Amino acid sequence: MNLPAVIFGRTGLSVTQLGMGGFPFGGVNEVQGWNPFTLEGRAQAVATIRHALQSGITYFDTAPGYGDGNSESIYGEALEGVTASYTLATKCPWANVGAAEVIASVEASLKRLRRETVDVVQFHGGMFTESDARHILEDGPLDGLDRLREQGKIRFLGFTCEEPFTALPLIASGAFDVVQLRYNLLNHQAAEHALPKASAANIGIAVMRPMTSGILPRILRDLAPEWLAARDPYDVCLRFVLSDPRVHTALVGARWPHEVDRNIQIAAGFASHFDLSQVPLRTAGIYQEDDRRWAG
Ligand SMILES: NC(=O)c1ccc[n+]([C@@H]2O[C@H](COP(=O)([O-])OP(=O)(O)OC[C@H]3O[C@@H](n4cnc5c(N)ncnc54)[C@H](OP(=O)(O)O)[C@@H]3O)[C@@H](O)[C@H]2O)c1
Repeated sequence: MNLPAVIFGRTGLSVTQLGMGGFPFGGVNEVQGWNPFTLEGRAQAVATIRHALQSGITYFDTAPGYGDGNSESIYGEALEGVTASYTLATKCPWANVGAAEVIASVEASLKRLRRETVDVVQFHGGMFTESDARHILEDGPLDGLDRLREQGKIRFLGFTCEEPFTALPLIASGAFDVVQLRYNLLNHQAAEHALPKASAANIGIAVMRPMTSGILPRILRDLAPEWLAARDPYDVCLRFVLSDPRVHTALVGARWPHEVDRNIQIAAGFASHFDLSQVPLRTAGIYQEDDRRWAG
C-alpha cells in the first residue's frame, strides 16, 4: 500500500502523511500489556519501528523526556544501520536552561540515538507565555540549537506546542523550520491561528495526538457505545487530520505492528474530497456558511 508523501514545508524533506510518534516507547501501559522497559517489551518496540519503516512510513518522532531516554534508545537500536531515507525528529528542554544545557541535552540524545546528526530538534513544549518565548529566543536556548546546526549535528530547528495560540510568537520569529501542534477531532484550536500562520510561513507542520491520545474512544465508550460498535473511532480521527492540507504529517503513537498496519490502511486508502482548512470553525461562520449554501 502506498502512503501519500508531501514536502515538509521549507525543510524540503519528503515526509509521509502518516508518521510515527515516540511516546509509547517511553511509557508503560499495564492494562494494554505494554512495557518497553522489559527485554521483551523493548524487542517488541524495536519490531514495531522496523515494521513501520518497512511499510513505508518515513517520519519518526521521539524525545529525551519519553521514559528518560528509553524511547530515543529504542529508536537508536531500531534504526541503526538502516540505509533507507527517513526523517528523525527529537526534542530538547528550554525552561530554565541556557545554550550549554541545550547543547548537552542534544549531545546525550545523539548518543542514545547512535548517530552523529539528527534531522530535527524541537523545543519540547506545552504552552508558552510571552516571557517563555522571549527566553527561548533571547536567553540562550535558540543560540544552543543554532550552534549545533552550525556544527552539522542537527539540520532543522523546531518546537512543539499543546496550546496552539501560544505558538504564535515563536512562529512569527522566523527562527523555526518545523512546528509540532496538538490538533485532533477533540482539540481543533490550531485551525484558527497557528495552522494558518505556520502554513503561510512555509513551516513543516507535524501533528501530535492525532488519535486524541485515545481519549475519544473512552468518551464514546461511556456516552455513545453504539457509535463505537458501528465505527472505528481511530479511522475518523485520522481522516480528520488528513483532511487538512496544511498538515504534513500526523504522528500516531502506535505500539504494535498491527496498529501500524491499521493506520496505514486508513491513510493509504483515504483521499479527502473535503478541505478542512476551508471549514469555518467558529459558530457564526458555520451559520453563515449554511445560509450561503441554502441561498445557493
Ligand atoms: N508536547 C509534545 O511534544 C507532545 C505531546 C504529546 C504527543 N507528542 C507526540 O505525538 C505522538 C502521538 O501522540 P500520542 O501518542 O499521545 O497520541 P495519539 O497518536 O493521538 O494516540 C495514541 C493512541 O491511539 C491508539 N491507537 C492508535 N492507532 C490505533 C489503532 N490502529 N488501533 C487501536 N488503537 C490505536 C492507542 O491507544 P489505546 O491502545 O490506548 O486505545 C495509542 O496509545 C506522540 O507519540 C509523540 O511523538 C508530542
